[in-house]
Amino acid sequence: MLWLSLSLLFLFVSTSTASIESAPSSEIRGSRTNYIKESSPIDCAKVPPTFWCVNEKLTKECGFDKLCDGYSKATKNQKLQLTIFYESLCPDCQEFMTNDFYRNVYLKFGDFIKFELVPYGNAKNDDGKIKCQHGEKECAINKYHSCVLHYMPEPIPFIVCMEARIQDGSTMDKAAEKCYYTFHVQPHVADQIIHCANGDIGDKFQQDAAKRTAEAFPDQHTHVPWILFNNVSIESQQFLISDLPVAICEFYNGDRQPGNCKGLGSSSRTLNGCTKGYFLDEEDDFEA
Ligand SMILES: *[C@@H]1O[C@H](CO)[C@@H](O)[C@H](O)[C@H]1NC(C)=O
Repeated sequence: MLWLSLSLLFLFVSTSTASIESAPSSEIRGSRTNYIKESSPIDCAKVPPTFWCVNEKLTKECGFDKLCDGYSKATKNQKLQLTIFYESLCPDCQEFMTNDFYRNVYLKFGDFIKFELVPYGNAKNDDGKIKCQHGEKECAINKYHSCVLHYMPEPIPFIVCMEARIQDGSTMDKAAEKCYYTFHVQPHVADQIIHCANGDIGDKFQQDAAKRTAEAFPDQHTHVPWILFNNVSIESQQFLISDLPVAICEFYNGDRQPGNCKGLGSSSRTLNGCTKGYFLDEEDDFEA
């Protein structure tokens, strides 16, 4: 929310100190200095980076074109990649996955996101022998999740289901059994997963998860759950995890914004504002 308020504050400041719309045509005015125009109606050096590429007029006015063209081409109408590093027995991961992540992200923005779950977290890999933060049980569940992620076409509801059961005290096998039943998982898929989870294939997938976690760039994770957007791992941006819908609506670059971006924040407070263009007709006034 702080982040949102800051963005709104910037929006307010930049629109109130200068009107982009009423500025004279940019061709008439002076030359560029290091991309940024001297005589812009706004102070281009103070434009928050999150605004650089979202408005064509602004992009041109401030000379952000080069970067923004590349970004726009690469991301236009592409799903946003959201990677989550987690471990199965970390209470905060369980809470995040079964609640906020599932309800507010997976169900509401799933069509716009390419999910990548990496069940490894703070485990350590000593020469191929994995040690998990919450012990052997956690290693077994992480491995199970790796297999689910590999063999199930739509694995997230199943993983969330397992986490919810385990959070409630179920054993791994009981949790899985219940979730196979809940989602009517085909027996041959369940067999593949169980075979994987009991053997070397699952170990290999866990090695992949270890590698994936270790390769995060530029920042290594310091805790879990940990998020990456479009494969970029930034420690100072982890606070976005507590307001993922806002981050998703900010980062997703499509012709059409996800429907659920409208009315964001309505759980706490809603600002409907006043729509421009409707004026009370004097004749209509005070009739009734
Ligand atoms: C993500 O980044 C890692 C390096 O951090 C790289 O090895 C991997 O190929 C990238 N994956 C995708 C899907 O871009």
